[in-house]
Amino acid sequence: MSSVVIVGAQWGDEGKGKVVDRYAARSQNVVRFQGGNNAGHTLVVGGETTVLHLMPSGVLNPGVRSVIGNGVVIDLEVLVREVRNCMERGLIDAARGTKTFAVSDRAHLILPYLSRLDRARESVAGAGKIGTTGRGIGPAYEDKVGRRGLRVCDLLDPQRFRDLARHRFEAVDRLLADLGGQTYTGDEIEALIDHQLELAEVIRPFICDTSKLLFEARSSGENILFEGAQGTLLDVDLGTYPYVTSSNCIAGAVCTGAGVGPTQIDGVVGICKAYTTRVGEGPFPTELHDSLGEELRAKGGEFGATTGRPRRCGWLDLVALRASVRANGLTGLALTKMDVLDGLDELKVCTAYRHHGETLHAPPARSDVMAELEPVYESVDGWGSQTVRGHNSFDQMPQAAQRYVRRIEEFVGIPVCLLSVGPDREETMEISDPFLGGSA
Ligand code: IMP
Repeated sequence: MSSVVIVGAQWGDEGKGKVVDRYAARSQNVVRFQGGNNAGHTLVVGGETTVLHLMPSGVLNPGVRSVIGNGVVIDLEVLVREVRNCMERGLIDAARGTKTFAVSDRAHLILPYLSRLDRARESVAGAGKIGTTGRGIGPAYEDKVGRRGLRVCDLLDPQRFRDLARHRFEAVDRLLADLGGQTYTGDEIEALIDHQLELAEVIRPFICDTSKLLFEARSSGENILFEGAQGTLLDVDLGTYPYVTSSNCIAGAVCTGAGVGPTQIDGVVGICKAYTTRVGEGPFPTELHDSLGEELRAKGGEFGATTGRPRRCGWLDLVALRASVRANGLTGLALTKMDVLDGLDELKVCTAYRHHGETLHAPPARSDVMAELEPVYESVDGWGSQTVRGHNSFDQMPQAAQRYVRRIEEFVGIPVCLLSVGPDREETMEISDPFLGGSA
């Protein structure tokens, strides 16, 4: 039995879905432990694209149990849409209940007023806006730590849910009125509560104590894959605060977000693009504002899977990546989208930052300082007209591509365990297996 955590090592969108989908084939359980439908994980299998926002990315693998842990914030409308889709495709089964899919009774709900509040706040924030996905993620985590959130277990007692929800709808309505946002009528509130209770019936067979379920799964020898959403630089504690999401996205969040102790984790793989992207506001030292940035965006299809927003693109920031290795205790790196760098004769990697004459070797705590940094670049040979696509062994790749990978490993101090060289499930090269021997 082995438990492996997958986390984003940058600002999200690193291609976690594809790597999770691949590793899921050797795990009996795939578990989401934080975030919500701000995530968008894209899977391409046999040319068919599936985008998931809440369902763990392992769900396309028959026989894998998908688990949504207590640390996830759930928009029931979105979850039920994905659950129904998976049921139609025979991937999960209400009759077999939590053997196929489990959702934590302790996970918090994103009721419709929370996404409306998120958008209303952003629309009045002016220059101070975060650039959120507008899905209510921040307000849901605020309600959670403010001890006024509604949870999945509350849905199981309709009268109790109705009373709690009505109370919160009315309280948030006052905030919406203050923000000049659209408020709810009494009839709308009742209809929305009824609708939530109807949706709850679809997930009822799958609701359970997922911490207990995972403990028992591990005790009986099953492997577990924990799937992070967003990325380390968006972590509310260690990211580029305040331009972050409202959850902890680092590997340690598995403990609180899935109810699994730190001694139960055997390996941590960080997913990292061969370059860097960011969606939304906030500092990004290696951002390219020129035609090369546009070229990366076009070649890499860098548009948000959730909001469709164009992603900002730039060179690989090794300083930030090294900080990620540290904060997550990464044992291996999965390097994705190598093929997007095909065609370039010269590549750059950032190996330090300069700030007012000082050299920094780690990201600063303050975002306003980070926004002023000048990256110190090292030039690396590109592989020009050669391609990394179509190769299935590291040694066959263009020499310059091999050197690029080796330089990254050397700088951050951990090995690359997987290389993704194209969008399809098959276009992946595995160098070592994180499930074997408990390390990558
Ligand atoms: P929120 O998570 O919707 O509150 O958004 C906060 C910040 O995190 C914004 O900059 C979003 O663009 C960013 N963000 C949230 N989820 C993702 C994701 O899955 N990928 C990339 N960026 C994300």
